[in-house]
Amino acid sequence: HDLSRANTLGLPCRAEHFAAPTTTAELREALALARREAWPLTVLGGGSNLILPARLAGLVLRPAMDAWWLEAGEGDGVRVHAEAAVVWHDLVMALAGRGLWGTENLALIPGHCGAAPIQNIGAYGVELGEVLEAVHLVHLEDGREAVLSADDCALGYRDSIFKGALDGRVVITRLVMRLSRSPRPRLGYGDLAARVGVAPSALEVAEAVCAIRREKLPDPALLGNAGSFFKNPLVAGEQAARLLAASPDMPHFPQPDGRVKLAAGWLIDRCGLRGWREEHFGVHDRQALVLVHFGGGSAEELLGFAGRVADRVRERFGVELEREPRLAGERP
Ligand code: EPU
Repeated sequence: HDLSRANTLGLPCRAEHFAAPTTTAELREALALARREAWPLTVLGGGSNLILPARLAGLVLRPAMDAWWLEAGEGDGVRVHAEAAVVWHDLVMALAGRGLWGTENLALIPGHCGAAPIQNIGAYGVELGEVLEAVHLVHLEDGREAVLSADDCALGYRDSIFKGALDGRVVITRLVMRLSRSPRPRLGYGDLAARVGVAPSALEVAEAVCAIRREKLPDPALLGNAGSFFKNPLVAGEQAARLLAASPDMPHFPQPDGRVKLAAGWLIDRCGLRGWREEHFGVHDRQALVLVHFGGGSAEELLGFAGRVADRVRERFGVELEREPRLAGERP
């Protein structure tokens, strides 16, 4: 099965076996088959935060259940249930269009709902964790179903239990989120406030976020990419102070624990690498945190290129950059 079109980086990949279950029962059947055949398993969502190798042995599972529905919550709360294959951005726009607040800042993030908790998607000052209530899942080893509360998910910055203790062990089948009918605009990040009127609607905020993203981020339909290729690094307060003494204009975000989050895109940009290209891969010319694939490249070449970008940042600033998209087939 050809997965070249199933990953937004556009890397060529063939899977030995492939299944796209449309119900939890079908999903559990596919898991039972994989267990009987002792096939390794890879779970795929929208493929927008993933680096695929040329070949994937065993079974690639791509959940295809794609219903979503609302349930009245307490007070002005509304509970949203969204199955794994619901396209995140389509859901965000539908919710914002109904005047429901909570996910509008996360508009235009590519991918499916099932993948959203894995990296705790976040943008423009909001993370999924702020609205997430629960995650329904199926264990790969025995097909048993379970529900984790948001607390159980151990959400952090681009991090969760699904990258840790549960990595490679579960398939997420459904999210439950709590949204609000009362306005609660979050306009503190960047120039978002300047792009909307006073008392904006949720839809107006979502549309402003879309406009900002379209200005900076490449459309994966036109140019292969997986969004930010690196996490924004957290450094000790003293190191941030030293770097700020040398570059007072460096963007920096002090954290509650005393560490400081730096903007990896700015660091890469300051190394003169924005727009840098080597054969099949490059640093995006409008947002240096995004690596782009011009076509014809492989996962190894991409990782080599990314390593050279990280080397330059380490040499210049002494800061380590950590990869953000996940490597398929990779096991801890
Ligand atoms: N900057 C530069 N040059 C660049 C890129 C950025 O100077 O080439 C500066 C910007 O001017 C700004 C700062 O760096 O002062 C931060 O840039 P930006 O607001 O574009 O956000 P980011 O920190 O680079 C993060 C997320 C994005 C998310 C945006 C907006 C990570 C790894 N990335 O990027 O998420 O959309 O904030 O909230 O946290 C993703 O995860 O795939 C992603 C796109």
